[in-house]
Amino acid sequence: MKPAEHVVRLRAEVVRHNEAYYVHDAPTIPDADYDALVRELRELEEAHPELADEQSVTHKVGAPVATTFSAVTHAEPMLSLDNVFDVAELRAWGDRCAKGLELAPSDLVLAVEPKIDGLALSILYVDGALTRAATRGDGRVGEDVTENVRTIRNVPPVLVDRGSGRVEVRGEVFLAKSDFDDLNARQRGLGEREFANPRNAAAGSLRQKEPSVTASRALSFLAYQLVEPAGAPSFDSYLDTIAQLSQWGFLTAPETTREVGVEDVIARTDWFEAHRHDLGYQIDGVVIKLDDLALRARLGFTSRAPRWAIARKLPPEERTTRLVAIEVSIGRTGRATPYAVLEPVVVAGSTVSMATLHNQDQVAAKDVRPGDLVIVRKAGDVIPEVVGAVSEAGRRRKSAWRFPTKCPDCGGPLERVGEESDTYCVNPACPAQQLAQFVHFASREALDIEGLGEQRVVQLLAEGLVDDVADLFNLRVEDLSSLEGLGELSATSLVGAIQAAKSMPLSRVLVGLGIRHVGPVAARELATASGSYTALAGASLEELEAVNGIGPVIAQSIFDYCHDEEAARRIASFAAAGLSLEEPRVASTVDQTLFERAVVVTGVVEGYSRDGAEAAIVARGGTSPGSVSKKTYCVVVGESPGASKVAKARDLGVPLVPASEFETLLGSGSWSTTLS
Ligand code: IVH
Repeated sequence: MKPAEHVVRLRAEVVRHNEAYYVHDAPTIPDADYDALVRELRELEEAHPELADEQSVTHKVGAPVATTFSAVTHAEPMLSLDNVFDVAELRAWGDRCAKGLELAPSDLVLAVEPKIDGLALSILYVDGALTRAATRGDGRVGEDVTENVRTIRNVPPVLVDRGSGRVEVRGEVFLAKSDFDDLNARQRGLGEREFANPRNAAAGSLRQKEPSVTASRALSFLAYQLVEPAGAPSFDSYLDTIAQLSQWGFLTAPETTREVGVEDVIARTDWFEAHRHDLGYQIDGVVIKLDDLALRARLGFTSRAPRWAIARKLPPEERTTRLVAIEVSIGRTGRATPYAVLEPVVVAGSTVSMATLHNQDQVAAKDVRPGDLVIVRKAGDVIPEVVGAVSEAGRRRKSAWRFPTKCPDCGGPLERVGEESDTYCVNPACPAQQLAQFVHFASREALDIEGLGEQRVVQLLAEGLVDDVADLFNLRVEDLSSLEGLGELSATSLVGAIQAAKSMPLSRVLVGLGIRHVGPVAARELATASGSYTALAGASLEELEAVNGIGPVIAQSIFDYCHDEEAARRIASFAAAGLSLEEPRVASTVDQTLFERAVVVTGVVEGYSRDGAEAAIVARGGTSPGSVSKKTYCVVVGESPGASKVAKARDLGVPLVPASEFETLLGSGSWSTTLS
């Protein structure tokens, strides 16, 4: 394609996406794909200056206003922000700023704050009273949404100390993550369309004809700009204006910090990247702004964005890719989960080639079909999911996907029970279920049997060495000699790991059994309250319901399990094999030195097994999660530690405590040296 033609085509495409995003609040592609298009266009325009055009979308902000609302001309244009996508680009921006101001990049004083994924709003206060509110629109002319904004609970109708004259407060309207989840749950309940993400939900909620609808939507507003009348500035520093906004009663971003020098800014943006999922609102980047307002004036603006601010975009959590096929996998309870087989795509930093579609209703609601271009989302540690299909004009789609009626593994019937959205393979002898049960039984949160992963279980089942999880405990080293790829040494350690699991407390056994609705928390409560399986099985429904945190659904489920004949046989085999089936009481003589503290152990701590170290922490009131987060109290580093855990701890500033300090930690809750 000739560059001229390519430019025209790209411009048309961007205009189309702008309209979908800004006018209809219904984007057709993920932001990351949109950014890539704009970038391609901009690079092409730069490489071919003869094709540049003042009217090109690359010089514009947003989109023209819809006709539903009356137009408001902004006294000062509402601009956008330029983006950088990595640290090198951020440094280059810092260098440009510094050069323009004849300063060193290390001397720049910058505010660093979250880039909230909502929509920009301008609110005008006259003599302290909310007078008019407008969306950004195309940056010059926005839409009058005053009555709707009056319904936003955290927008002050009058400023706390009133003041006189005109002030304009700009910021972002957004839906907190929890409010977004509530809204979608409500939409689902009403059989209404769910919103793709908090931004669309916020935009759709603000731009309602009927203010009462906006009022029902739990919108929030966060202020990040004070526009003072020209000629009479009362502030020198941006952060001072933010403090003023906060005093007037506006929400401002609590995560905002003041940094000196671009390197510290980079460190802070890394912090935002590591913590994006811990914030109450969705962010798509970090905004960096020069603090000194006089210096800002010296740098000025381009046609669409200020030179004194920049947005560092975070790795996209949504991308588009081709849906190759839809398949169904069978879990340990027989639940048949549809999942998408995808053309591999990098999302949030890792390659995704499969994504869940949750259940039959979700596939139908999203109407995704093999061959479609689909949006894939992966947020943090969450399993990747397919959000929906992207419409492609002129492309013939395959017919709608039909949920299979037979189990892909055993061929037994797949059934939907009652009102539930889930479909189950109801054949209790289904090999896929059996496999998933074994894998779950041996998993870290259950009996934690090292060396017993899916591959190994497949072999054991195929060789007929086990049929029920209880059979594991009778395995001998010589039984395993027939297994391919398993030497004498590994066989010995596998049998050792299985034997060691016999001393696991009842709570872990309960988790391993995979009783419906009984997760690790409920299992621990039930086990602690009863003390032994015998006592648990003897409890009445009322007694079970009286246990802390146990509601009628869990109580019924555990009650049914304890009165099931097959379950009784399995428990009897456990007992015969020597499992304790008891929950040791936490000795009250142990000081709770780690009360409510999360201590992660990585590598081998001398004198302790993996579970032994964990048990010692738990006995002192702490927890020992498998991964490091900002809530982690410290990480104990033993022999051959996990590199990623250590790196993450360093990243988050979590103390690294050498294993030689483990006893001190248990005894006092603190340590005397850390690793750097
Ligand atoms: S400052 C002239 N600060 O991002 C500077 N914008 O991509 C104008 N946004 O239109 C914006 N969080 O809707 C600024 N902390 C923040 C922001 C923020 C989100 C939005 C805003 C803006 C868009 C630019």
